[in-house]
Amino acid sequence: MDSILVKGGAALNGQIAIAGAKNACLTLMPATLLSEEPLTLTNAPRLSDIKTMTTLLQSLGAEACSMQDGQVLALSSHDIHNHTADYDIVRKMRASILVLGPMLARDGHAVVSLPGGCAIGARPVDLHLQALEALGADLDLRDGYVHAKAPGGLKGGTVDFPIVSVGATENVLMAATLAKGTTVIKNAAREPEIVDLADCLRRMGAQIEGDGTDTITVQGVDRLGAATHPVVADRIELGTYMLAPAIAGGEVELLGGRIDLVEAFCEKLDAAGVSVTETEKGLKVSRKNGRIGAVDVVTEPFPGFPTDLQAQMMALMCTAEGTSVLEERIFENRFMHAPELMRMGARIDVHGGTATVHGVEKLRGAKVMATDLRASVSLILAGLAAEGETLVGRVYHLDRGYERLEAKLSACGAQVERVSTK
Ligand code: EPZ
Repeated sequence: MDSILVKGGAALNGQIAIAGAKNACLTLMPATLLSEEPLTLTNAPRLSDIKTMTTLLQSLGAEACSMQDGQVLALSSHDIHNHTADYDIVRKMRASILVLGPMLARDGHAVVSLPGGCAIGARPVDLHLQALEALGADLDLRDGYVHAKAPGGLKGGTVDFPIVSVGATENVLMAATLAKGTTVIKNAAREPEIVDLADCLRRMGAQIEGDGTDTITVQGVDRLGAATHPVVADRIELGTYMLAPAIAGGEVELLGGRIDLVEAFCEKLDAAGVSVTETEKGLKVSRKNGRIGAVDVVTEPFPGFPTDLQAQMMALMCTAEGTSVLEERIFENRFMHAPELMRMGARIDVHGGTATVHGVEKLRGAKVMATDLRASVSLILAGLAAEGETLVGRVYHLDRGYERLEAKLSACGAQVERVSTK
């Protein structure tokens, strides 16, 4: 089991290249199931979650191979001989549920394991299922699997989500591209990853309007063709690394960073005393002057403050001047980084979905444990400015969403290394 060892105190200066978005790639890859023609994804991130999705697609009969050191994914679903997404793969990564809509739309049947919960919450998939039923799918839940049928093919319909769901929007958007007739998706997720998926589907021949707004309209087509599509930059990796100089001091340029992907996040950074300037290559980030000030945060669907940056923002607030209140409105259990930060000397009171952080002068390095992907990186960020050494265990969580993190931070002067521990 690997750990990451961080020696705090070094200011960061240099450049960090932002990779393609994990959460875009995980929905772009299943889109290959919609067509018998090849789908090539460029700017793909090199992450363990991408490997898991590759394995899943291969288990269905798709050809999925990565080239150019993993940055190009060549996918082809000419012969899908297996329509069952097995529990052993799905339980490792919830995004596996995203093969359901495409497989059902293309071949009229699919059997997909229910993903089960994860550390941050129960993570049900009822909205995915309701949306596909609105397109005429016949779903039967038994033995922990969704048995889905649409013998005469899916039919366009109206989907009206009671709450915003990124994955459910993606699943039904993909399914709707091959449904007979028009589909209207109301209260759709507006994340940049949805727009990126729609762009890719349009390249494949889909007819989609309104992506990026809360109402998406899809005119079904008979078939989709080949496409090559660049994965959009990862706004969560971007926001994460923007916090590194904010916490440790110095100035870092995030190559490929786009301000439009992180507007709500940048508003909070500005209020906290962090300077973000656009450059020709991306975004340059540094502290404005002196100490960071406490700001309040509420996580919301895009374009609000992203839940995937809440843990990292908490790490910044731990040594901010004043008290900040972070309200987590998307997931029911997404403060597991708080007790670990408290081991480093942070003062945090958690009550239900609200964490109150009382800023302290300095954190102290400690042995801490990663519990989920974004919690693990918040501990590393906290370690950058802590006195002494921080050892973050269970970094397999980290490898799901951050490629070559220690190399990227070390290149800017951070003392970060991967060590193997029993
Ligand atoms: C996506 O998860 C992301 N994952 C998550 O990123 C991200 O935190 C989340 O969207 C919110 O932005 C991927 O894209 C692979 P949701 P998803 O459906 O689609 C509830 C990371 O760290 N809900 O928008 O699963 C759900 O429980 C990960 O990269 C239902 O009740 O999120 C949650 O409370 C973590 N029923 C809320 O909706 C459903 O059928 C939003 O979930 C689906 C969701």
